[in-house]
Amino acid sequence: MIQSKIAGTGFYVPDNVVTNDELSKLMDTNDAWIQERTGIQERRHIVKDSGDTPATMGAKAAEMAISRAGIDKSEVDFIIFATLSPDYYFPGGGVQVQDLLGIAEVGALDVRNQCSGFIYGLSVADVYIKSGMYKNVLVIGSENHSGGLDFTTRGRGVSVIFGDGAGAVLMQPTTEEGKGVLSTHLHSEGKYAKELALIGPSTLRWVPEILEANDPEDISYYPYMNGNFVFKHAVVRFEEVIREALDKNGYQASDIDLLVPHQANLRISQYIQKKMRLRDEQVINNIMKYGNTTAASVPIALNEAWETGRIKPGDLVCLAAFGSGFTWASALIRW
Ligand code: UT7
Repeated sequence: MIQSKIAGTGFYVPDNVVTNDELSKLMDTNDAWIQERTGIQERRHIVKDSGDTPATMGAKAAEMAISRAGIDKSEVDFIIFATLSPDYYFPGGGVQVQDLLGIAEVGALDVRNQCSGFIYGLSVADVYIKSGMYKNVLVIGSENHSGGLDFTTRGRGVSVIFGDGAGAVLMQPTTEEGKGVLSTHLHSEGKYAKELALIGPSTLRWVPEILEANDPEDISYYPYMNGNFVFKHAVVRFEEVIREALDKNGYQASDIDLLVPHQANLRISQYIQKKMRLRDEQVINNIMKYGNTTAASVPIALNEAWETGRIKPGDLVCLAAFGSGFTWASALIRW
């Protein structure tokens, strides 16, 4: 039986490190608050006009994943690109990656599931590969948050959390018994769409009206997050969707070798870890260095886990995410 496996991982983050102290020069915040509430010490921000964009960063992460998979980029036969911050309103970033990598006219699909976007994308790649339709599928998560955040005190509840960067995997078929993606689990609850959303740039308002208003106080152009509300749902849904993946495959929490949670907030990861009685070595957290990079956070953390030897062949790896939509998702993988 054909299963899909992750054959290579990659990542790219902008060089520009922004510390909590630097943010406190822009708004009424401080290192102690940010670390205590989120665990974040620093994040990366794109330098304007540096050439880093979600598409270019995604392409760089993808190149690393392709080379680690040991294939030539000409062998990639499908691209899946997850982001909430595309370079353009349309077209999506997947076609830009196809162009930037200079590969043949393969299909490119954009996924708009925010923090869960990478796992949603991985689930699509999994099914394509299992069906025999494609053999070398790129799944990319990439974000430019910093260009769209309110760095005044008004926006501090959101702007200190998010960071920029990209992560990618190259997925391939395997016939090795019991190896690869064992199952994926996807959920949504659209009644909470507005609890974490960017409403301004939308078709609900007509462009001529917006241009005429030209209102610098229009905060609908900044993301809105009902932080406490999102937090309370996140801790419930993370655990649920991880347990769903374990139950489906007849495993228990103690069987997980590594949980790679979406890096939403260190407190959320720690809560899940405690609730599921996982040991420190069973969970990877790197939000301290990168902040919350939404669709990029799972592949960036997965890449770090692989690079630092925290994932070994045969390990049981669980990916899980929750975020805007609300959407939440998990994937259980035998590495
Ligand atoms: O990525 C996927 C989805 N996102 C998440 O999962 C994020 C979920 N939510 C969270 O991580 C947390 O709710 C936050 C980190 C966003 C906020 O933490 P919190 O402990 O829920 O704080 P809070 O919103 O209840 O705010 C507490 C206080 C408020 O002041 P008052 O009203 O108590 O005087 C805020 O105005 O902290 C204030 N505050 C800040 N103070 C310093 C809010 N942001 C800041 C800040 N610096 N950056």
